[in-house]
Amino acid sequence: MKVLIVGSGGREHAIAAGVAKSRNVDEIYCAPGNAGIAEFAKCVEIGAMEFDKLVSFAKEKQVDLVVVGMDDPLVGGLVDLLEAEGIRTFGPRKNAAILEGSKAFSKNLMKKYHIPTAAYETFSDAEEAIAYLKTAKFPIVLKADGLALGKGVLICNTLEEAKEGVKSLMLDKKFGSAGNEIVIEEFMTGREVSVLSFVDGKTIKTMTSAQDHKRAGDGDTGLNTGGMGTFSPSPFYTKEVEAFCNQHIYQATVDAMRQEGREFKGVIFFGLMLTEEGPKVLEYNARFGDPEAQVVLPRMKSDLVEVMEACIDGTLDQVDLQFEENAAVCVVLASDGYPVSYEKGYPIQGLEKFKDQESYYCFHAGTALKNGQIVTSGGRVLGITAKGKDLKEARANAYAATDWIQFENKYMRHDIGKAIDEA
Ligand code: AMP
Ligand code: GLY
Repeated sequence: MKVLIVGSGGREHAIAAGVAKSRNVDEIYCAPGNAGIAEFAKCVEIGAMEFDKLVSFAKEKQVDLVVVGMDDPLVGGLVDLLEAEGIRTFGPRKNAAILEGSKAFSKNLMKKYHIPTAAYETFSDAEEAIAYLKTAKFPIVLKADGLALGKGVLICNTLEEAKEGVKSLMLDKKFGSAGNEIVIEEFMTGREVSVLSFVDGKTIKTMTSAQDHKRAGDGDTGLNTGGMGTFSPSPFYTKEVEAFCNQHIYQATVDAMRQEGREFKGVIFFGLMLTEEGPKVLEYNARFGDPEAQVVLPRMKSDLVEVMEACIDGTLDQVDLQFEENAAVCVVLASDGYPVSYEKGYPIQGLEKFKDQESYYCFHAGTALKNGQIVTSGGRVLGITAKGKDLKEARANAYAATDWIQFENKYMRHDIGKAIDEA
């Protein structure tokens, strides 16, 4: 089989590594890919939003399966275009990717189908939003309706902050048209858990759980980022929590989408908060998480491509989805200054230490090849993942491996997985 993966981050590297292990795969392409993926896939210089070129390339190479890893092309309808040409594609169509593409849509869906989530209102008029905020309880959460690189969520402690937030999202258009509409929702407290799942339109099978660390600094300080590290499984995702989510959230979401005529095939990522009133949905994503994929996929025992094909064929009920009984931790090595401003182009040393390692992975997120040398090219540069028999061992292994890598302005959090000690 020939497989084309669309995307260029650590998540796509983890997907490519999973695809490469698959029994039936002969050749892997990645568009545009990165320097790490290029070690075992052919990277092609086509951007993830260059739909016409992607479709032509897939046709020309007679690709058997396309995997779309990123949110933007999914929300933009790349899957529909590929399918229209008869190309088998893993990922939701445009009308289902809206589950991630519009927070107003997903909140309304949850309300209509009684899926537990924070109480909310939606606004497309800034003055009305501010009038509402004057009567609201603080802290309160503002969310841009559309995609904003995970940065369109503002937690406001005072009315003043909230007014500023409305201005930046709706009037200054900090995230462009993503802020045409906003969701204002109740602030919840509790532990966060990410649960990714495979979905074939009717059946849903959840993967092992994970937890992300979104803030830039140790102790959950600083700005929100795309994610600074993950661990899997989450010790807080107990059998009771899982049973509740099975009963009230997972299948209910898949059924709701079907009911709405928006059959979902691909990965649904449930961002959950474990509140005192029980688990509630913080957000849905229509794809693997990044860096959740970097701890979940290395622990997957089932053949990734076979599971993806079952999602396309509607035969997921026949799949026995299996994960290893161990644990994994991923520590992101970033460029100092991320997520605001940072320098790029520094050579990276030590990558060869990860070759032929069983339980250690170095996933590339923002790297490039310059004159034969791999250099930093993004805010998040690498994801260092290690497995262990339990979370503590995995964390010790991952942090030990962060020392193998050197580059100028290397920055990381030192407390990824600290919550494990409280479990
Ligand atoms: P989202 O992109 O919706 O997952 O939001 C990003 C982050 O903001 C989440 O991972 C939470 O840490 C936080 N957040 C979002 N919604 C809420 C909420 N209603 N209450 C508290 N924190 C929230
Ligand atoms: N790690 C969170 C996300 O992928 O959206």
